[in-house]
Amino acid sequence: MTNKAIIYSSTTGKTRKIAEYTARELKADVFDLKKQTVINLSEYSHIIFGTGIHAGKPYKAIVTFLENNEDQLSNKKKSLFLSCMYKEQKGEDQLAKVSGDLGINDAFFFAGKGEKNDEGLDISVDDFIKEMRRR
Ligand SMILES: Cc1cc2nc3c(=O)[nH]c(=O)nc-3n(C[C@H](O)[C@H](O)[C@H](O)COP(=O)(O)O)c2cc1C
Repeated sequence: MTNKAIIYSSTTGKTRKIAEYTARELKADVFDLKKQTVINLSEYSHIIFGTGIHAGKPYKAIVTFLENNEDQLSNKKKSLFLSCMYKEQKGEDQLAKVSGDLGINDAFFFAGKGEKNDEGLDISVDDFIKEMRRR
């Protein structure tokens, strides 16, 4: 089984909610970059990053963490989720740009619109968790 960590940055708490729920479901460790910026990644084989989006860009804490840990991260599986407001094609285009800039191809976004699960989260978060289990 892969050992997973979720590392996120959140301003208003939406990314945090998704990160914490996903961590519970996957039995993954979860790290808030607002509280901790140095993380020992050695025991993890799969790192899932989460961030909100301001003006088309991921939060600085995620960008900085990826830059500071480039070597440690190079041989690990990486995934990304965005908590954002753009949906449909605009959301897809934004996702392609952000995941390209961050160098993480395995990427998903949650626009917080539409049907919700029991946790009050976008139902596509549950599909995302299923995907993450397969990684
Ligand atoms: C100042 C500001 C700028 C934003 N810009 C974008 C944007 O360019 N694209 C987008 O999809 N969402 C944008 N959003 C929406 C946030 O990304 C969204 O609310 C996200 O869920 C916030 O995550 P957080 O609660 O974890 O900080 C913006 C929100 C704010 C307040």
